[in-house]
Amino acid sequence: MDEHKNAPIGIFDSGVGGISVLREAVKLLPDEKFIFYGDTGNAPYGTKPRETVVSLSENVVKRLLDQHVKAIVIACNTATSAAAAYLRGKYDLPIIGMEPALKPASLIRKKGIVLSLATPGTIAGEKYAHLVSLYGEGVVSLPCPGLMEFAENGEMDGERLNEYLKKLFLPYRDQPVEAIVLGCTHYVFLRDAIQQHFPDAALIDGNLGTVRQLIRRLQEVNLLAPEGSIGSVLFQTSAGTETIEKMKRLLEMK
Ligand code: DGL
Repeated sequence: MDEHKNAPIGIFDSGVGGISVLREAVKLLPDEKFIFYGDTGNAPYGTKPRETVVSLSENVVKRLLDQHVKAIVIACNTATSAAAAYLRGKYDLPIIGMEPALKPASLIRKKGIVLSLATPGTIAGEKYAHLVSLYGEGVVSLPCPGLMEFAENGEMDGERLNEYLKKLFLPYRDQPVEAIVLGCTHYVFLRDAIQQHFPDAALIDGNLGTVRQLIRRLQEVNLLAPEGSIGSVLFQTSAGTETIEKMKRLLEMK
């Protein structure tokens, strides 16, 4: 049993975006061993058909299971929307997913609007429609094809990104935007660039909530690593070794 408590936690994303979740996880769970898998070789997920995302996600899950992980975090809103229910039905371990943080945004919102940024796949999904039916008042959903690539390629600022965002936000420039939901883990790395367009808006992501949920699930099944265990992070990717270097750098970023 104790051996299982010391098993690693698998975290995956279509690419480097999930590092923003890993960052929180390492802070809150310093005793745990993490294996982060970035499926950069198959990114993006957000513009692919749902079935493709299910099968790519399952391939990653199998790789992680081969390494005897005790739990899996899907650090990707798109993969959660497409594949979490299927994976939970098939594999018997805690699988923690993510969703755009519309609920926390609804608590902040007074009279203005909430811009919800996510991939086309996430926004088209059933899970998102359900979320909107519960917390969608004042929410404008903005699918952002091409936006994750900026984070994936390390282009966190500059003219090209700024032009993309300017165009995306143009219809809302003079509207009372109170909150912006970063509904894709890659967008968390673009936070500063996004904030410049709406300096007064609250930018909200689901990362902390996801890690808290991971902790709750591990507590439930009594699988938290014993205190004083030696934590670690192992990076893996379907792309080249330069991606591993990129992931390491992003983990260190503030
Ligand atoms: N990071 C992913 C998410 O949270 C998606 C990026 C993509 O592959 O399109 O939705």
